[in-house]
Amino acid sequence: SSSVKHSLKSYSIASSGVPNHPEFMAVSVVDDIQVTYCDGSNKIYEPRQDWMKKLLDDNPQLWTRVTQDCFEFLPPFFKIALNSFIQLSNHSEGVHILQSMIGCEWDEMTGEVTGFTRYHYDREDFIELDLKTSTWTALRPEADIIKQKWDEDTPGIKEAVEFLTQTCPELLKLNLKYGNNSLLRTDVPSVSLLQKTPSSPVSCHATGFYPDRALMFWRKDREEIHEGVEHGEILPNHDGSFQMNIDLNISSVSPEDWRRYDCVFHLPGVEDDIFTKLDETQIRTNWVEKSSNQTSTSISIIIISAVVVVVVVVFAAAAGFMVHRTKRLHLISESSLRLSFFRGNMNEYGVHILQLMHGCEWDEETGDVTGFMQYGYDGEDFILVDMKKLKWIALKPQAMSTKLKWDSDKARIKINEQFFTQTCPEWLKMYLHYGKSSLLRTGHFFKNPVLSTSGCSPVQLAAALDSLPSRTPSSPQP
Ligand SMILES: *[C@@H]1O[C@H](CO)[C@@H](O)[C@H](O)[C@H]1NC(C)=O
Ligand SMILES: *[C@@H]1O[C@H](CO)[C@@H](O)[C@H](O)[C@H]1NC(C)=O
Ligand SMILES: *[C@@H]1O[C@H](CO)[C@@H](O)[C@H](O)[C@H]1NC(C)=O
Ligand SMILES: *[C@@H]1O[C@H](CO)[C@@H](O)[C@H](O)[C@H]1NC(C)=O
Repeated sequence: SSSVKHSLKSYSIASSGVPNHPEFMAVSVVDDIQVTYCDGSNKIYEPRQDWMKKLLDDNPQLWTRVTQDCFEFLPPFFKIALNSFIQLSNHSEGVHILQSMIGCEWDEMTGEVTGFTRYHYDREDFIELDLKTSTWTALRPEADIIKQKWDEDTPGIKEAVEFLTQTCPELLKLNLKYGNNSLLRTDVPSVSLLQKTPSSPVSCHATGFYPDRALMFWRKDREEIHEGVEHGEILPNHDGSFQMNIDLNISSVSPEDWRRYDCVFHLPGVEDDIFTKLDETQIRTNWVEKSSNQTSTSISIIIISAVVVVVVVVFAAAAGFMVHRTKRLHLISESSLRLSFFRGNMNEYGVHILQLMHGCEWDEETGDVTGFMQYGYDGEDFILVDMKKLKWIALKPQAMSTKLKWDSDKARIKINEQFFTQTCPEWLKMYLHYGKSSLLRTGHFFKNPVLSTSGCSPVQLAAALDSLPSRTPSSPQP
């Protein structure tokens, strides 16, 4: 089709009540690749791509402007705005978060430009700028007063509109020029066939492609088919590439007909499509048989750690520039996982929780030991390792890429396995010996994190969790 869209967006976040956390941060992204990072509280402004550094070095006046925005202009603006949003909503103490997404989209083929400016407060849409009428739209009753006030600022609106429709697309094109080698590249994916259980649809899964304008379909006798076919969405990977899948219901396909089917991956601008024949011997599975009955009394030691990922946003209407990035309160080693969580949830700004539960179970009577390791994201199970088969099991479609990648890292699984089946049980027995076996395993701990050891501050996290509003479905983003 004749539409190739590029975008420049800035996400900013101002928070109050989150201990040890910058009150203002912002990141900017081009085509969903992070290019700059701003921490207004600690006066840090950094390009995140080599070409972005070169762009700023070549344009010192731009560098001056963006650092001024980050250090001087935006933090107080957001602080004041956040305080007034808190008051208007009759909220008081606790964690509150104001986020903005500002930017523009430019269609390389048609030349069409779209701009957007939207604020969210505590995860709900609050107010946005309507470029057609040059007025603000209150998205919640409490935002009405802000709308009236901001509507009176005609010069401010004029500047914002000018920024969104002129400066922003110019900056975007400048970014595309400097970053062309990565932003305008094409990467072809690796394609594999996956199946959950022997009776599930066969999923044709492509991962590692760029950009995200890919087409996938199933064919029978070289003709595209639609019946029994289900398209998955294109999801971002942690490394900036993308993945997608397309499922084929094979329940009514007889075994001798399998060879008549194939899956096609097409990336515009790349001549050769990738064909994958439906072949039983090529199918990889995520399926593990239910483990046998748990017997008698087992005692477990569980270590739960959590990471709070705060996704940020800022606004610079007048000076007009945006920037964006995540801030992690607590780090764990799985940085790629964290990023994929984050990138997969790009539209949900705010505080996200990544939890890692790992531990071991020891059956006092039989002496059996089981290790386990599992990640949860925002209260939902995400990925876990099957210690017996030394395989990762994806519990969400977004985790599939991570699973495939981690599955190939046998050394790491082995190290984990040794730890959980040998070191951990030794600790456990030692704890029991000293009468410290107070941690008991219960069902859905992710919903109610009881935190313990491993490097993070449970008090901080619990406080943050308690005061967060319940999650609401996020609205469609431009
Ligand atoms: C906040 O309190 C004022 C005065 O009690 C009330 O008029 C207003 O509706 C409240 N606003 C919200 C969002 O609850
Ligand atoms: C990026 O631009 C340079 C200079 O114009 C050019 O040589 C190069 O081929 C471009 N790269 C891509 C991927 O288009
Ligand atoms: C696959 O097709 C069969 C019959 O054609 C249907 O009963 C079944 O529900 C389908 N499975 C899925 C996952 O859609
Ligand atoms: C699990 O235990 C139940 C009840 O003791 C028994 O009926 C069932 O066969 C057991 N299943 C397996 C897989 O051992």
